[in-house]
Amino acid sequence: MYPIDLSGKKGVILGVANDRSIAWSVARALAQAGARLALTYQNDRLKERVDRLAATLGGALVLPCDATDDAQIAALFQQVGQSFGDISFLVHSIAYANREDLAGDFFQTSREGFKLALEISAYSLLPLVKHALPLMTGGGSVVTMTFQASQRVYPGYNVMGTAKAALEQEVRQLAGELGARNIRVNAVSPGPLETLAARGIHGFMDLKRVHAERSPMRRNITPEEVAATALFLCSDMSSGITGAIIPVDAGYHIMGV
Ligand SMILES: NC(=O)c1ccc[n+]([C@@H]2O[C@H](COP(=O)([O-])OP(=O)(O)OC[C@H]3O[C@@H](n4cnc5c(N)ncnc54)[C@H](O)[C@@H]3O)[C@@H](O)[C@H]2O)c1
Repeated sequence: MYPIDLSGKKGVILGVANDRSIAWSVARALAQAGARLALTYQNDRLKERVDRLAATLGGALVLPCDATDDAQIAALFQQVGQSFGDISFLVHSIAYANREDLAGDFFQTSREGFKLALEISAYSLLPLVKHALPLMTGGGSVVTMTFQASQRVYPGYNVMGTAKAALEQEVRQLAGELGARNIRVNAVSPGPLETLAARGIHGFMDLKRVHAERSPMRRNITPEEVAATALFLCSDMSSGITGAIIPVDAGYHIMGV
């Protein structure tokens, strides 16, 4: 049980694909804290699984949203508005790049592959925030997921590192723009977790082992630790924090040699 109460709060979480998804850990934590949730699924192939998971939370809405489709984004928030009235948080936990753009030479990245990765992993935050804003009448919290490959060279990340760098700057720009409306925008930067998305990263298990060996805490993090930080950011406990990139990585990011 988490020591934060979100009773009466409502919000949207994008990025549940299965029970290993970071978004799912976040959903469980927020639901346990008393929040009402709308979960989205990317396509029909994932609907049944997300429906099944959502049923275990008791009463979560489940709605479609392919983040490359503006009409689906608009429809999502229209339906959320009809059901919830207002919302106080938006969790963006989605990313995608073609497998061939996550290995080999970065300079070989195709124009289409670059556009696709940046569109889904970075741009998507903007239209989602745009449509969430009218529902955040009492202020709100936007949380996204990034990775340290935004700042450092991780050979298996290639174009995704560039996408995360863009995403992190979006967090700062949105935080600057929306602070006056009492809407906060932050990112969590988790260490490696074995999820569907991580499977596409060449050498991921080696990367995970190195993180555990070199991090000050000498271990990898858990999905629950990421969820707890997202919960904190969605709650009033973090009311003074915006524009932050918060590493949940057992301290790996501070290490030199
Ligand atoms: N797993 C890790 O080690 C790790 C570390 C740091 C950051 N992250 C980030 O966490 C976030 C969640 O990833 P995850 O590891 O939970 O993997 P995941 O595969 O479970 O989640 C990725 C999600 O993105 C969704 N998605 C992809 N394209 C989409 C689209 N067009 N429209 C809507 N949704 C789409 C997928 O359906 C899926 O639910 C990503 O931003 C990822 O980069 C992951």
